[in-house]
Amino acid sequence: MRIDIITVLPELIKSPFEASILKRGIEKGLVEVHMHDLRKYGLNKYNQVDDYQYGGGAGMVMMIEPLDKLIHELKEGREYDEVIYMTPDGVTLNQGMANHLSLKENIMIICGHYKGIDQRVRDLYITREISIGDYVLSGGELGAAVLCDALIRLIPGVISDETSALTDSFQDGLLAPPVYTRPADYKGHKVPDILLSGHLKAIEEWREEKAFERTRERRPDLLNED
Ligand code: ADE
Repeated sequence: MRIDIITVLPELIKSPFEASILKRGIEKGLVEVHMHDLRKYGLNKYNQVDDYQYGGGAGMVMMIEPLDKLIHELKEGREYDEVIYMTPDGVTLNQGMANHLSLKENIMIICGHYKGIDQRVRDLYITREISIGDYVLSGGELGAAVLCDALIRLIPGVISDETSALTDSFQDGLLAPPVYTRPADYKGHKVPDILLSGHLKAIEEWREEKAFERTRERRPDLLNED
């Protein structure tokens, strides 16, 4: 997979790709991530990328011209399966969306700033608008990092224990059951006996029951039981 990220703040989004699982995915050659500094496509001697909005009102809008130039240049290099705009007006990211996007070849992600991008860029190029939640961030970069993390870890081979990503919360529509590690007894706080029993089938059933219990308690909306 190749991911191209368009941003005015490349330094804000670099570090998540330089550690842990995302770094490993890149080093293994399973994903390529390219940052593009939109300022380099800015207008005039100030490399301007934003301007006042027509009709008045507070806040700047990211201009069409620098974005159009950069998007056009990238599209000349390859075909994109998705051109994503990170915005609070988008569809809220969920695991299903991450699964779907993790199967794509080429993805472009545009990080908005200020009041957002000129609507014409959205009309012309954007195939999907994604929000990471009902709150407003200062820009799309952190949202893009969240999106990339959610989908890169799903690319086969990125996580060495293949089953690990499959048993995550949400992957089967349920929250994950509780997990424990050594010691079995910490100052009287004990690990449930069943997990020490060695009965794999019983452990599996216990985990499933706990996953349902936790989901029913915390996220009944995921169960569609009513
Ligand atoms: N940009 C600003 N707020 C955002 C959000 N909640 N999700 C994605 N991108 C954003």
